[in-house]
Amino acid sequence: MFNVANVKSTLVDFDPISGLSKSRSSIRRKLSNMKGIFYDKAAYDAALSKGDPLVYEFYEMGVPHSSGDVAYGTTITYPGKIGDEYHMTKGHFHTALDTAEVYFCLGGHGLMLMENPEGDVEVQEFRKGQVVYVPCRYAHRGINISVDRPLIAFFACPGHAGHDYGTIETKGFRKLVVERNGKPTLIDNPRWTR
Ligand code: NI
Repeated sequence: MFNVANVKSTLVDFDPISGLSKSRSSIRRKLSNMKGIFYDKAAYDAALSKGDPLVYEFYEMGVPHSSGDVAYGTTITYPGKIGDEYHMTKGHFHTALDTAEVYFCLGGHGLMLMENPEGDVEVQEFRKGQVVYVPCRYAHRGINISVDRPLIAFFACPGHAGHDYGTIETKGFRKLVVERNGKPTLIDNPRWTR
C-alpha cells in the first residue's frame, strides 16, 4: 500500500486463535525431541511407542541479538499428559541471565514454572488475557494444564537474551508440576541434582 524505500521494519501475522503464523515457519518440538524432559521415563517410552505427537511449537523471528532489540513470537503448547505430567515446553534459562521476558496469554490455561540458580521458585497460573512477567535470572517453562485446549502465548524478551537449554536438559527444574487428584500440584523433582 505504501511504497517506502529502505524499509527496516517488519510486519508479521499471528492468528490470535491458533497462535500460528501463515508467513513464517515454526520450530516444532515433538515428543521424540523431548527425551529426558518428562520425569516418568516409562510413561515417556510408552507414549512414544504409540506415536510422536507435537508437544509444542514456537517462532523465532530472527531479530538482531542486541540488547536494544526485542525477540518475540508466539508459543503454542498442545494439550496432553505424559504419565501424570502435563505437556510443557522444555524450559530454559536465558544465556544472558540478567534478562526478563513477557508472556501474554492469547488462549488456554497454563502454569509458568520459574526458578533461579539460587533455587527460588515461582509459579504463576494464567489464562487468556493475562500477562506473566518472568523476572531476570529465572528459567521458565510453560505448562498446559487444560485437558483439551492449546496454551497460546505471545512472548517478548531482549534480543540478546539467547536460550540456554542445556542446564535444564541435564539437571531439570527443582520442582515439577504433576496432576494429583485431578489438580496440578507442585512436587520436588526426584531426578534433580545439584
Ligand atoms: Ni525465554
